[in-house]
Amino acid sequence: MTSLQTDACAAESLASDNDAQTTGGRCSSETRATGKVVPLCAHRDDAASAADLTYSRIPSIAENQCVVRSNEWVNPEYKHLVLSAPDLALTVRAGQFFHLACPPSNDEVPYLRRPMSIYRVAPENQRIEFLYKVQGVGTRGLAQLNRGDTLDALGPLGKGFDLPATTGAAHVLLLARGVGLATMAPLAQEAIAAGARVTAVLSARSPSLVMSADYLRDAGADIVIVTDDDQTSDVVQVEHLIRRLHASRPVTFATTCGSNRLLSMLQRVAAELQIPGQIALEQHMGCAIGACYACVRPFRKSAGSDELTYRRVCLDGPVFDLQETTSW
Ligand SMILES: Cc1cc2nc3c(=O)[nH]c(=O)nc-3n(C[C@H](O)[C@H](O)[C@H](O)COP(=O)(O)OP(=O)(O)OC[C@H]3O[C@@H](n4cnc5c(N)ncnc54)[C@H](O)[C@@H]3O)c2cc1C
Ligand code: FES
Repeated sequence: MTSLQTDACAAESLASDNDAQTTGGRCSSETRATGKVVPLCAHRDDAASAADLTYSRIPSIAENQCVVRSNEWVNPEYKHLVLSAPDLALTVRAGQFFHLACPPSNDEVPYLRRPMSIYRVAPENQRIEFLYKVQGVGTRGLAQLNRGDTLDALGPLGKGFDLPATTGAAHVLLLARGVGLATMAPLAQEAIAAGARVTAVLSARSPSLVMSADYLRDAGADIVIVTDDDQTSDVVQVEHLIRRLHASRPVTFATTCGSNRLLSMLQRVAAELQIPGQIALEQHMGCAIGACYACVRPFRKSAGSDELTYRRVCLDGPVFDLQETTSW
């Protein structure tokens, strides 16, 4: 796909994005979840001859009209949003995200959509879930959604995690701080389903802000909780912990999200122990479909290189190679 084609289709998509914003992305109804396909991705049909410039249009992104099933507080800062979603939304993979048309809250109207990682997907129940921190105008609007309301979720968007194929016993390490956990949780499900052992190190300010330990444990992950209150979450201690985990069962793939300090430490340790890995990044976004370049960040051209290149977090990520990512 050329960037021109991407941008032309992106513009088309943005037009419908704005339509959704003018309605606030919300209406009260008990209607079934539906999806309006956004013709964003035109994939080259490999079977076509080189002379044939026809592109087969495989819809992979839609403005999904989701219906709220529940939207409950899980602690004083975070809410858990459960939606009925149309089929296309259920194809979302770990690390991908939706661009949500958050409804207005009181007099505040969020002009742009807000990116939100998928927290859980249950295709058998037509369900997608998000875990979000209520912090600004967009998430305050989300927090006011009630059962039966509709929410316009553009997606699935971006490139998710890519678990490497291993011949031996796979051991996946998830290192998550705060809401970074929301992004990592579905990876645990995918890795366990693929036969890997998963260890999730969950870091938070206090034990009351540790989320989803039960969910991850039920999925089959081993859980280690570290908190600021218990003075177990500082980077030096977490580094020792990872080294111990690796010594007892070699880590074959390491992932992180949500903390710059943890990223720098994990890069160093993973490079030394030769563990491949990925990171899910969060970046302010405009369009989330590659058109506006609001989310560009510098990356190393390759692991260990001093040469930088610039990539769009929304389209080239939000999941990137651990060693190519620069800290912020
Ligand atoms: C790919 C992706 C996935 C995300 N997944 C989740 C998720 O699962 N759960 C969740 O709670 N949040 C997630 N976020 C962050 C979320 O999009 C922002 O917190 C959200 O936009 C806040 O909107 P707001 O209007 O409530 O707050 P705003 O008023 O826009 O911002 C509140 C505060 O958060 C900061 N902020 C806003 N957006 C970002 C951002 N993208 N990166 C860093 N700081 C930001 C602002 O600078 C400000 O200090 C994700 C972000 C990205 C890019
Ligand atoms: S947010 Fe527009 S290009 Fe990434």
